[in-house]
Amino acid sequence: MTDVRVKSKEGFVSHFGCEPEFLSYAPGRVNLIGEHTDYNDGFVLPCAIKFGTAMTAKVNGTNKMRLFALDIDGGDTDEFECSATFDAGSKTWANYLRAMVALIMQKGHKVEGLDIAITGDIPLGAGLSSSASLEVTFGNLVSQVFGLNIPLQEIALIGQACEALNGCKCGIMDQTISACGKANCALLIDCRSLKLEQVKVPSDLDILIVNSNCKHELVGGEYNERREQCENAAKILGVKALRDATMEMLDAKKGEMDDVTYRRARHVITEDDRVLEAVKAFEQGNLDKLATLMYASHCSMRDDFEITIPEIDGLVEIIRKAIGENAAVRMTGGGFGGSVVAVVEPSKVEQVKQAIDAEYEKISGKKATIIETHAFDGAAFTKL
Ligand code: GLA
Repeated sequence: MTDVRVKSKEGFVSHFGCEPEFLSYAPGRVNLIGEHTDYNDGFVLPCAIKFGTAMTAKVNGTNKMRLFALDIDGGDTDEFECSATFDAGSKTWANYLRAMVALIMQKGHKVEGLDIAITGDIPLGAGLSSSASLEVTFGNLVSQVFGLNIPLQEIALIGQACEALNGCKCGIMDQTISACGKANCALLIDCRSLKLEQVKVPSDLDILIVNSNCKHELVGGEYNERREQCENAAKILGVKALRDATMEMLDAKKGEMDDVTYRRARHVITEDDRVLEAVKAFEQGNLDKLATLMYASHCSMRDDFEITIPEIDGLVEIIRKAIGENAAVRMTGGGFGGSVVAVVEPSKVEQVKQAIDAEYEKISGKKATIIETHAFDGAAFTKL
């Protein structure tokens, strides 16, 4: 497959009829553990993957962003005035860029027109953060081209605000890892202090992402509803966020909340602990311990947080059957479809692939897509 950076440059030349001046790139992510903990001020452990979004660009001397998206409907365009007011247009993909410009300008920065060619290879709806990668690629492009010096973590925060303007009250994980990922490392993010710690992924382990090809869709009720349930639980517990609660505190108040609220909170409280334990497992190179934690995370998402679907649960069990009980596997991302992540010894990859090929279609009527990756660097910008 052609590298998206090359593809973007070729698309720029063919659409705008001249050479681009700048190249910006940011990857998608896979979350190894720590799901729905970010907006509860908790901990997450994602890494950046080999797929991402690339933009090539040139200053166009106007006040307008002129956009060419290579991948949408065989090539789609949009343009908008740079303004601190967010005006949604009719094109969903472009609304992320419209919102980013408005948010950057609201911070007092001056932004002018760019011609931009956009392309990416993150499978859409796979729960691998294509929208965060779009936001970070674009935010960093604008920051670098106009000398705004916006730190990458602040670009991530602007990306998060951009999601809210587009209907998803997400946490800070996806944009932060896309911006700040490091090759061969997972990133421990403390989503309250925004402190980052790079955690080495042992080089003798592969990361497998299995896309169920059941599209996940976060701009919708379920995600925001989970967030409200968590906030409600925190309120009942009298804490700022579920990050501050323990299982003892939750059990003491069990009688004051309904069963759903209790289980949502139990997921988040136990998941935060699992993330910190998983960091130790990586440091110790202890794959068995990681496996126990990842599967416990999966069960908690399935039973307490109720964000898995039968196809995803089926995939997890197929992989467990192929590798054995100590498979490090779980659903990854926001849920309701998307992908499963497994951390495996390279010698086991083939048997996992064969098992998925043989079993998944029987339970889902679909083929799964298997992506082999390791941890990659985050956002990068180049003057061409
Ligand atoms: C989505 C959101 C993230 C995070 C995950 C669940 O990817 O964008 O902020 O909440 O879901 O862990």
